[in-house]
Amino acid sequence: LSKIEIKLNEIPEGKNMTFKWRGKPLFVRHRTEKEIAAEEAVNLAELRDPQHDKDRVLNPSWVIVLGVCTHLGCVPIANAGDFGGYYCPCHGSHYDASGRIRKGPAPLNLEVPYYEFPDDDTVVVG
Ligand code: FES
Repeated sequence: LSKIEIKLNEIPEGKNMTFKWRGKPLFVRHRTEKEIAAEEAVNLAELRDPQHDKDRVLNPSWVIVLGVCTHLGCVPIANAGDFGGYYCPCHGSHYDASGRIRKGPAPLNLEVPYYEFPDDDTVVVG
């Protein structure tokens, strides 16, 4: 299936859910106000793969990224690691709650796929 439709009202605030899309894990994260404020305030000079949070999301409440570590492709664990986003246990890469790489061997941020919101409660990825 090339597209996946996800109902957002089933994902409570603070929770990350994993779906399968094009054979890969897809993360959909419903961020808290605190997470949004923290990620928007990050200084780009601190980042290995500098990208503003605003350039990674269409709606700040929702982070939609591939659950594939950019080091060697393991699946990171949500709500873990030193930056409160994702932690890859294979070799210790830490991502923030925008999916940006912050520490460890991974070179790049978690990939943001193409997606759109046909209405307030639905996201279509692909
Ligand atoms: Fe994730 Fe190596 S595959 S840190």
